[in-house]
Amino acid sequence: MPLGNLARKARYWICVRLFARCGKKVNIESHAFFHSGRRISIGDYSGIGMNAHLSGPVTIGDNVMMGQDVVILAHNHKFSRTDIPMCLQGLQPERPVRIGNDVWIGARVVILAGVKVGDGAILGAGAVIARDVPAWAVVIGNPARIIRFRRTSQPLARREAIQSIDGGRLSVLSQKGH
Ligand SMILES: CC(C)(COP(=O)(O)OP(=O)(O)OC[C@H]1O[C@@H](n2cnc3c(N)ncnc32)[C@H](O)[C@@H]1OP(=O)(O)O)[C@@H](O)C(=O)NCCC(=O)NCCS
Repeated sequence: MPLGNLARKARYWICVRLFARCGKKVNIESHAFFHSGRRISIGDYSGIGMNAHLSGPVTIGDNVMMGQDVVILAHNHKFSRTDIPMCLQGLQPERPVRIGNDVWIGARVVILAGVKVGDGAILGAGAVIARDVPAWAVVIGNPARIIRFRRTSQPLARREAIQSIDGGRLSVLSQKGH
């Protein structure tokens, strides 16, 4: 067996024991970093990309693909006081990140605390995800914005979802490909 495959199997073997849940056929790429595996849950046939940095709690569904250098952060520093340095103020309460099924997370995507990513979504390379992403949306940029939906069967629900989930901060820029 080639060395790369052996190392991959070893990483999976370790993560099955470390993670809260590690589904079947999960692919953990090299140099993935996570503070505590106990707060990471990942479904069947999903992957954690090369050089990923996961600061839990993070829940990842089934069939999720992840590019290189992805950062997922479920916490922020406190910064409300101005009379003492921020580094002495501690951390805000953690806000879990939830990623649905069949999501493609491009290279160098940053996902911030409390974000929910719906099933079937694509997060384009380099996107910064500060707000929830509706199911089937394709988003790009910083801050992430929707460029289209992969499914068009529920246009009304789609609009409503955008308004209610992220207060209109994500907007449909183009209907290209519909
Ligand atoms: C998001 C993505 C899937 C979109 O693919 P697509 O639907 O074929 O999009 P297009 O190439 O038609 O681009 C549509 C527009 O968005 C822009 N765009 C596409 N991806 C972008 C990105 N990641 N960031 C910023 N802008 C992007 C294009 O420049 C284009 O702009 P224009 O209409 O002004 O010319 C793809 O561009 C992407 O980012 N893939 C991730 C690749 C990756 O990270 N792989 C890692 C290994 S898994």
